[in-house]
Amino acid sequence: MSKETLKNWQGTIAVMGVDWGDSGKGRLIDDLASNAHVVARWGGGSNTGHTVENSLGKFALHIMPSGIFNKDVICLVGRNVAVDLESLLLEIENLQSAGVTVDNLLIDEQASLTMPWHRMRDGLRESLRENNHSDKIGTTGRGVGPTYADRTERVGLLVGDLLSSDFKEKLKEEVEIQNQFYRLGLDYQEIHRKYAKYARKIKRFIGNTTQVLKKAKENGQNILFEGAQGYFLDIDAGTYPFVTSSNPGIVGIWRCFDFHPSEINEVIGITKAYMTRVGEGPMPTKINGEERKFIVEKGKERGTTTGRERTPGWLDLVLIKAAVDANKINSLAITKLDVLSGLKIIKVCTGYRLQGNPADYLAHDARFLSQAEPVYEDFEGWQEDISSVRRFDDLPKNAKRFIKRVEEYVGIPVKFISVGPKRGEVIYI
Ligand code: GDP
Ligand code: IMO
Ligand code: MG
Repeated sequence: MSKETLKNWQGTIAVMGVDWGDSGKGRLIDDLASNAHVVARWGGGSNTGHTVENSLGKFALHIMPSGIFNKDVICLVGRNVAVDLESLLLEIENLQSAGVTVDNLLIDEQASLTMPWHRMRDGLRESLRENNHSDKIGTTGRGVGPTYADRTERVGLLVGDLLSSDFKEKLKEEVEIQNQFYRLGLDYQEIHRKYAKYARKIKRFIGNTTQVLKKAKENGQNILFEGAQGYFLDIDAGTYPFVTSSNPGIVGIWRCFDFHPSEINEVIGITKAYMTRVGEGPMPTKINGEERKFIVEKGKERGTTTGRERTPGWLDLVLIKAAVDANKINSLAITKLDVLSGLKIIKVCTGYRLQGNPADYLAHDARFLSQAEPVYEDFEGWQEDISSVRRFDDLPKNAKRFIKRVEEYVGIPVKFISVGPKRGEVIYI
């Protein structure tokens, strides 16, 4: 796909974060979805918060794919998404009241359900960690970790169970087990009343997503994969234990849809023009003082799901390059370039030092990154408001220099830059 601009893309594209999440995946998917026949979401659950702003309004999506604003695009929620019905039904209601039809949604029957006990266990474990001064992860508290833990243990309820004639018995048994294991004092009758109602509402959206995707591919349709989180929150590759419980990396697509990564035409790695992290865990390029205040305020850096302030950091090219290499990413999307307008100096991390010596290796684990000292290159900033720029050539020369250096270091082109949160406030290169 190297000669086309992303605006007119054809084939199969995957969008994944190369950071710690919140890079603008929702807005990029919304921008690209007008060309898609299918948008397929892999990984994560109601911990995800994808913001989309377009002519229909401003939306925070958690489980719903960000292609939903296009009524002819089939939106798939794959089998490795943790499906929290309370969250999803609320999203559906919000969308419908804004005039968005959700008839094109299909949720995989094999996906695990996030249930009230998962949220309780998530909160309980975090509060115990806090009391014991051990490593608090700073989870979103949405029960996502316990949902995946149960899935790996091969216990818990699946979306398809909502359709089965013995759902009531399965639910009862699971509630009893949870009460025995964790002493949660769950009231089965109350949960059943709620979930019987949810099941009635969600039934029509349940099916087999891998088959739909297979057919779409056979028919030469355009497929857009929507990732959640970012590569350094990956359960295996991220800054363990300060990670989430799924695979934001490209392997997540394979596990979710039986769709081999080699069949994807373009993998887009997305990051802001700086980085942010929410929750605990190391971030070598953390920004403090006045510059932090500037970025948090101008970038409105508060979590879409939890409202927590996100910690900003300078763009860390060492990490981005590692994510690009590991996932065979072909191009980059850089969002929020407009937020950096007005800064005198913009820093970019191009290496690490460990106890004063150049660190020539990269381990993703939390200990390495908490000791790594960033080596920066400084770039002169620009003062102009760039939010109405739509062509790369029209950007201030210092902004172009910054983007060119990112391309040069990482070794792949930047094909998409956004300069505002709304659909179309973008530069296609
Ligand atoms: P996601 O989780 O990767 O989809 O990202 P989030 O939605 O959690 O966070 C991105 C935030 O940045 C949202 O509030 C977006 O509305 C906002 N945003 C996205 N792109 C731009 C941009 O180019 N400029 C500005 N100013 N805001 C943006
Ligand atoms: P999107 O898709 C940013 C972070 C949490 C916490 C860690 C574990 O919007 O980019 P969890 O609730 O998953 O057990 O929390 O992971 N986290 C995210 N941070 N964006 C996200 O999703 C995140 N999903 C999880 O803050 O540090
Ligand atoms: Mg987000």
